[in-house]
Amino acid sequence: MKTVTVNASVSYKILIEKGLLKNAGKYIKECFGEVKLCIVTDDTVDALYASAVEAALTSEQLPFIKFVIPHGEASKNAENLVSLLELMAENRLTRADAIIALGGGVVGDLAGFAAGIYLRGIRFVQIPTTLLAMVDSSVGGKTAIDLKAGKNLAGVFHQPSLVLCDPNALNTLPSNVFSDGCAEVIKYGIINDRELFDTLKLGIRENIEEIIERCVSNKAHIVELDEFDNGTRQLLNLGHTVGHAIELCSSFTVSHGSAVAIGTVIATKIAYSLNLCTKTELDETVALISAQGLPTRSPYSASQLAKAATADKKRSGDTINFVIPYGIGNCELMKIKVSDLEEFIMKGI
Ligand code: NAD
Ligand code: GLY
Repeated sequence: MKTVTVNASVSYKILIEKGLLKNAGKYIKECFGEVKLCIVTDDTVDALYASAVEAALTSEQLPFIKFVIPHGEASKNAENLVSLLELMAENRLTRADAIIALGGGVVGDLAGFAAGIYLRGIRFVQIPTTLLAMVDSSVGGKTAIDLKAGKNLAGVFHQPSLVLCDPNALNTLPSNVFSDGCAEVIKYGIINDRELFDTLKLGIRENIEEIIERCVSNKAHIVELDEFDNGTRQLLNLGHTVGHAIELCSSFTVSHGSAVAIGTVIATKIAYSLNLCTKTELDETVALISAQGLPTRSPYSASQLAKAATADKKRSGDTINFVIPYGIGNCELMKIKVSDLEEFIMKGI
């Protein structure tokens, strides 16, 4: 068993172990004592893993109810959020009770938001089942739903009380969804961990437990420095400024992981053009991303990407904080004027 502790406004443990799901009830009882639980999951994960979690809760005499959403981003909406809150209220969950988010980032963001606002905040457990959720969304307390105007426009910071990560769940993940998660894994190596980057070259599936531990340790450190996303935490957006623009230009037909992969390559090419990283580092980055079956070239022009990036509903002011790799393992934020963005992105196309 690998354990990482996050010391944010709330301190909590991330437990990582193959086969851990069958002991989920024991860890939840150790953390919360006697509580009633609301399992939140999607239909795909429900069919694959809910029965294991339910059996683990039953064996510890922990009562539960369950809320199942259709799989996919479209479910991260206000209607499902309110239905979940109503279900918990009908079943008289109190502030002593807790939510279990069993699934990928969609389930984790929705369930975490519900936990953050139900009775002004109850505790919750993240049980991530995608690679992206294991290394990123289950840790750090960002929760959200999407609004008609854009993704993640409503949410709260609300840290989980426990994260239970069973890498065996990745065995059923479609290979394209696994690859999407690899884009976020590679991100941690480039941001501040050259050693992790080199480990990834040996194969991600082959060393999955160590890699998840390393990624969440990196994320924990960044969250501890800047829980509320005012500076350092923005480094986690490596590849995301252009990535979000690609998602938008494609009307979300290009997956998040593919878009971040292309965005990361563009950021590295920009760095190379500014003499901030070497050609070898650029080539290593492209090679590692390609090896995961992820794309590296933008189907859109610098002008299209700049327009989409500046239309981002969460942007404010006349500058954008762009994450730039000063070599592998050392990223910094660079303030770019919105009026200079197209020319800047052009250097990476
Ligand atoms: P997802 O939750 O939609 O899961 C992807 C697909 O995989 C779904 O169809 C799901 O049913 C299926 N699935 C999940 N686990 C499975 C398993 N073990 N076996 C087979 N199928 C499985 O997508 P995601 O990539 O996990 O998360 C994306 C979401 O995460 C986005 O909404 C994004 O905004 C959010 N996100 C949040 C944060 C954060 O810090 N809160 C960070 C990054 C991304
Ligand atoms: N996934 C980015 C963050 O947690 O800040």
